[in-house]
Amino acid sequence: MIVKSAEFICSNTQISKLPPPVKAEYAFIGRSNVGKSSLINMLAGKKGLAKTSQTPGKTQLINHFLINDNWYIVDLPGYGYARASKSKKADWSKFIHTYLDKRESLQCVMVLIDSRLEPQKIDIEFCNWLGEKGLSFVLVFTKADKQSSIKTDQNIAKFRKALLETFEEVPKHFLTSAETQLGHDEVLAFISQINQQ
Ligand code: GTP
Ligand code: MG
Repeated sequence: MIVKSAEFICSNTQISKLPPPVKAEYAFIGRSNVGKSSLINMLAGKKGLAKTSQTPGKTQLINHFLINDNWYIVDLPGYGYARASKSKKADWSKFIHTYLDKRESLQCVMVLIDSRLEPQKIDIEFCNWLGEKGLSFVLVFTKADKQSSIKTDQNIAKFRKALLETFEEVPKHFLTSAETQLGHDEVLAFISQINQQ
């Protein structure tokens, strides 16, 4: 798929104010600082589209970006942001879980995982929750440029193995880098395929 246009539509803290659920949407979620906003910019081919930061906790709203006037990329706040207050964490968590569970136009949840790390409990638990809810998701490993491909492959294998404790079949995965554009064509082709169904 070629991205011809990518446009910021809105930021929200209220489910009732989201755009009408008439266009397909893909939610990008993962731990704080995993690289959600950077990956969105890489896929959209527009550097400043989603705001990125070295400081975790940058994205605090549900942001809708309209691609090719046809479908949405949704940038979500990261989970597991240690420095947020307990009540704020609980608010975000409830909001994100409600959005994911209730959004009719959501086609697939793109779960971002830092490819430098061994499997993290919080990521596994989040995948398990998606599984319990019957939501379809794929794994998107980020920051592949930051370490050797041997290390990356080991971490991916360990993550897939950890999921096999609860899933009969582990969903598809992609390997990406916002720096080198790795995974750009594969992720967009995957989305394009679902949009055409
Ligand atoms: P929150 O909105 O705070 O949850 O973070 P996020 O998941 O949106 O992460 P963001 O895209 O803001 O990136 C966090 C940091 O990681 C930034 O300093 C990015 O430049 C860096 N980063 C993101 N993706 C990559 C990547 O593929 N390679 C490298 N080398 N750095 C990356
Ligand atoms: Mg962000």
